[in-house]
Parts: sequence; structure tokens; C-alpha cells
Amino acid sequence: MSLENSGVPAGEPLVVVDHVVKHYGDFVALNDVSLTVDKGEVVVLIGPSGSGKSTLCRTINRLETITSGDIRIDGESLPQEGRKLAALRAEVGMVFQSFNLFSHKTILDNVTLAPVKVKRMPKKEAEDLAHTLLDRVGVGAQADKYPAQLSGGQQQRVAIARALAMQPKVMLFDEPTSALDPEMINEVLDVMVRLAAEGMTMIVVTHEMGFARKAADRVAFMSDGEILEQAPPEEFFSRPRTDRAKDFLSKILTH
Ligand SMILES: Nc1ncnc2c1ncn2[C@@H]1O[C@H](COP(=O)(O)OP(=O)(O)OP(=O)(O)O)[C@@H](O)[C@H]1O
Ligand SMILES: [Mg+2]
Repeated sequence: MSLENSGVPAGEPLVVVDHVVKHYGDFVALNDVSLTVDKGEVVVLIGPSGSGKSTLCRTINRLETITSGDIRIDGESLPQEGRKLAALRAEVGMVFQSFNLFSHKTILDNVTLAPVKVKRMPKKEAEDLAHTLLDRVGVGAQADKYPAQLSGGQQQRVAIARALAMQPKVMLFDEPTSALDPEMINEVLDVMVRLAAEGMTMIVVTHEMGFARKAADRVAFMSDGEILEQAPPEEFFSRPRTDRAKDFLSKILTH
């Protein structure tokens, strides 16, 4: 299956976060955040707890409204609501820490549900696509089971297949491995590394620095609702520029 489904205008990155501010009451969760992600690029977001990583992902997917600024996907501004929003949201796949599969539906049904309901894909076509994607993430044999019959790592790979079934232009991952037992982390990261190698545009919140080194084109470091620095992983890990990034790295790299 081709991942080349973007007609992004020449010169405009696929994802543009343009001076975005997000308030929760008086609290400023995102303070003038700008970030661009080119088609096929993989950006890892890291930073201390509460720095705004999840909030940024949720605004890009319009699970949160923004206070000011603009977010464009493939040249189109994200509307705050309405049918156009549903269509644009389908272009952004999201994978969370908790897998959120429908427990009373089979694995196959979990993956076909959105393409059939939202995209009006014929059932047979959606099932063929689902089988292809489930094979691709290594859980093709589990298609007729229910989520509770799968391991956490298998369920998270199903969640990735489910997001891919909408043929998104960009995939957001918010700490996709942090709820998993250690032995299952790599099977999920391997799928993500492969996706990246196949050219998927990805924004990934993770503390897995091995993944960042292997798959990221760029690391963006967030602190207190701001992106303080961005650099290729080798450069960021060996020569962080800000004291806050140095402090953060000294804490996580000693564990
Ligand atoms: N719905 C909300 N209402 C009020 N404050 C919120 C809400 N959601 C997030 N916040 C606050 O916004 C800040 C950023 O939260 P966010 O979840 O984006 O951080 P994070 O970087 O993802 O942290 P973590 O690493 O712990 O997941 C936090 O201080 C949080 O308490
Ligand atoms: Mg978070």
C-alpha cells in the first residue's frame, strides 16, 4: 500500500503549527509554539512532564481547540468544528498510551469500523485493507480475537493498524509504549521504525531515546509550553544548547 497520498503545495511543509497558544483558564499550556514537519519527516517531541507534549498532539488533531494561532495540515487550516473538521481529522492518525480498542468488537472489526463508517469504504475492501495492515504490524493471526485476548504489545500494534486504516497523511504517537511491559516495547517500536522507513510522516512523543536516535530526523525539546530547541538527534543528545535540555537529559539518560 502506498503512503504517498499527499498533495502538499510546493514549499509548504505537511504540518504547520503557527504561533499556537493554548490556555486552560489562566494557565498557558502552549506558549507561542511553532513547529513544521515535512512530508516523510519524523519528529520526536521530548520534555518534562507537564511541558505540553500531549496538549500539542491533541491540538494538531483538534481534540483540543486553540486560543490563537493556526494549524495547517497539507495546506489547509484546521477548522474548530463541523464536517470539514471530521474530514481533516481523518487525515491525522493518533495512537495513545492506552490502546482504546473496542472491547466487544473483534480485532478485524476494530480496524474496519472507521473506514466503513467515516470513509464509506465498502466492507469487503475495508476487510482486505485491515488484513493487509494487521499482517504488516505482525498480528494478522489475531484478526478474529477480541482485544482482551491479546497482549498489550499486540493491542498497541492493532491500534496502529486501526489508525493506518484511515490512510492518514500524518501519524501522531503519544507515549505509545509507556503502558507496556518492557518485553513488549520493542515489538511496537519496531513497527514504528518500519513505518518511518517507509516514509510515513510522524510526530512521536516518547522517552525511548533509542527510537529517537534510530528513527527521528529531528528532536524537539519542550519545556513549560514552549519548544526550546530543535535539532537532529545526534546533535541534540550530544550538544543540547539550553540548560533546561541539559538538565532534562542528565536525568533521563542516567536511568
Ligand atoms: N484539560 C486540562 N485542563 C487544565 N489543564 C490542563 C488540561 N490538560 C492539560 N493541562 C495542563 O497543561 C500542562 C501540559 O499538559 P500535557 O499533558 O500537555 O503535558 P505533557 O508534556 O504531555 O506531560 P506528560 O509527560 O506528563 O504526559 C500541564 O500542566 C497540565 O496540567
Ligand atoms: Mg503527555
